[in-house]
Amino acid sequence: MGRGVTPARRGTRRSRQPSPSAPVPVSRQDVAVRINGTVYQAEVDVRTTLADFIRGHAGLTGTHLGCEHGVCGACTVLLNGEPVRSCLMLAVQADGAEVTTVEALGTPERLHPLQEAFREHHGLQCGFCTPGFLMTALAFLQENPRPTTEEIRQAIAGNLCRCTGYQGIVAAIADAARRMRGESGGG
Ligand code: FES
Ligand code: FES
Repeated sequence: MGRGVTPARRGTRRSRQPSPSAPVPVSRQDVAVRINGTVYQAEVDVRTTLADFIRGHAGLTGTHLGCEHGVCGACTVLLNGEPVRSCLMLAVQADGAEVTTVEALGTPERLHPLQEAFREHHGLQCGFCTPGFLMTALAFLQENPRPTTEEIRQAIAGNLCRCTGYQGIVAAIADAARRMRGESGGG
């Protein structure tokens, strides 16, 4: 038998032309997201991620992008109080939601207890991963204000740091828990 397309296969080929009555795909959409108390509104490409909306449209570049596929945790923000990976969400999915980013934590003059503890326990070196760890830890400590070391390790298991070896981060979160409970920090 000669090579080539068989008559049966030829008969199953379909036209790729869109039908004249097919709906036109929507590629842009209005989005409004409240970030750290301010509403940011923009018409975006529907494929725009929440991370790109936060960084590009709101100009809040404290949220970092590492892997951009849900592995490193650097892009973690709170969505209606829950930690999410903003590289995995579309901005249109966050329409109408309340987002909290690392910029809401503290200021250089008045650090959040988590930031103070990270500074004191050397919980960062290059700092690239730090916003993601802080936001993950914030949500975790709000749910579990008196965690064990093992619980802290589990809570940050989805965040990657290439610098610190994690010991300082674990110590910082344990110390921040004490500070946030109103006990003196340090130890
Ligand atoms: S950038 Fe989102 S998980 Fe790595
Ligand atoms: S401090 Fe550099 S990646 Fe964590």
